[in-house]
Amino acid sequence: MNTIRKFALLLGLGISAIAVAGEGSALDTRTDLKLTEPEAVEFLAEMRNMLASIQGIVMGIGTDDRELIVRSARQSGNRMARNTPESVRKKLPQSFKALGGPTHLMFEELAIRAETDDMEALAEFTGELLTQCLSCHSQFKVN
Ligand code: HEC
Repeated sequence: MNTIRKFALLLGLGISAIAVAGEGSALDTRTDLKLTEPEAVEFLAEMRNMLASIQGIVMGIGTDDRELIVRSARQSGNRMARNTPESVRKKLPQSFKALGGPTHLMFEELAIRAETDDMEALAEFTGELLTQCLSCHSQFKVN
C-alpha cells in the first residue's frame, strides 16, 4: 500500500471513530427515542415535574401531611399521561408505554391510598413506584 492510500485509510477510520463517539452510541446502549429538540424539552420538563411530585410525596410522608401527598401524586397521574403530545406518543415503543402507563396509574393509586394508609405503607409504595423510574431510565434516552 502506498503512503497516500495508507493515509486515506487511516483518515477514513479516524472519521468513523469520531462519528461513533459523537453519537455516544458506543458506550450508551439505551434505546434512542429520537425526539426532536422541542419534543425533548417538553418531555424532560414533564420528567422534572415527576421528580417534583416525588419530592412532595416524601415531604408529605415525613410531615404527616396527607393533603400534600394527594396533591403531589395527582400532578403526575393520568392528567400528565393524557398531556403527552401526539407526535411524541407516535414515537414511543410498546416497551416504553408498558412502563410509562402503569407509572402514572401508580401515582393515581398513591393519591387514593394517601386518604387511608399509614405513612409506612405509603413510603413503601413510593419506593415501589420509584423502581418504575429506574427501570425506564436504564433502557431509554430522548435523543
Ligand atoms: C417510561 C419511561 C420513564 C419513566 C417511567 C420515568 N422516566 Fe424519567 N426519563 C425518561 C427518559 C427517556 C429520560 C431522558 C433520559 C436521557 O435522554 O438521558 C428521563 C429523564 C428524567 C429526568 C431528567 C430531566 C432533565 O431535565 O434532564 C428526571 C428528573 C426524571 N426522568 C425523573 C423521573 C422520575 C422521578 C420518574 C418516576 C417517578 C421517572 N422519571 C420515570 C423516561 C422515563
